Amino acid sequence: MSAPARASRAKSPKSPAGFQVTIGNTGALIRCAADETVLHAAMRAGIDYPHACASGNCGMCLSQLVAGKVAMLPRADATLSPEQAASGKTLACRAMPCSDLSIRWLGRTGR
Ligand code: FES
Repeated sequence: MSAPARASRAKSPKSPAGFQVTIGNTGALIRCAADETVLHAAMRAGIDYPHACASGNCGMCLSQLVAGKVAMLPRADATLSPEQAASGKTLACRAMPCSDLSIRWLGRTGR
């Protein structure tokens, strides 16, 4: 099947078209550029994604990455532990997509 190969190239990290992101809490499917954070894309789409600092320091945007991969911008070490990252947790304000994603926010109770 040649179609998946084309789709794969179109969704490379350098793709200007970006990626599809499913926000599990709302069921919304949004577009997120490869150089844009999930939080920014969600806000641009009108989603009230929990956040405060938008700079990786507060943990309000703590989320579970259900599917897909992200690249992380710098953040405070205490905001996302290595154990949390290993279990698929991420910070929406620091996460930029490397593939199509499914993600859901956890808020303060998900730590
Ligand atoms: S909004 Fe503060 S860590 Fe993401």
